[in-house]
Amino acid sequence: MAVLPVVAYPAPALRQKAKRVRNIDGAIARLIEDMVETMHEVGGVGLAAPQVGIPLRVAVIELPDEETIVLVNPKIVKRSGEREVEEGCLSISGYRGEIQRSVKVIAKGLDRRGREIRIKGEGLLAQVLEHEVDHLNGTLYIDHLESIDKLYQVAPDVETPEI
Ligand code: NI
Repeated sequence: MAVLPVVAYPAPALRQKAKRVRNIDGAIARLIEDMVETMHEVGGVGLAAPQVGIPLRVAVIELPDEETIVLVNPKIVKRSGEREVEEGCLSISGYRGEIQRSVKVIAKGLDRRGREIRIKGEGLLAQVLEHEVDHLNGTLYIDHLESIDKLYQVAPDVETPEI
């Protein structure tokens, strides 16, 4: 396993629409392992492949004290509710923004063994699922800001987890 460098805004890699994974082969298995290790190393709660410069639809999520979720070719199939959240991104360090996210989402995709999975997320998990699927579409949380006044600089040791 290896820790991969996280791409920083405004790298073009963050703006590409990632491609579907056709076959979960050894290279994808390795990418998943490396992404999990990288997420642990940087202390994030989620990471999408474009953030490590790989334009494929792969994301990993790990909320505090929860199991790791691996999502290949994920899709949000249902969203409900709306809430204001404070959000940060590992690729936009030192900033947070206030944006609207869904209260609940349902995501579908494949796990690391290629089995279909369906994840119901509420609160932080819903937020992270939306954030990661956004990354796979080249969208960043700053695109959801109603105004630039809702973006602010924060100290690097701020407690909100980054995604
Ligand atoms: Ni992010």
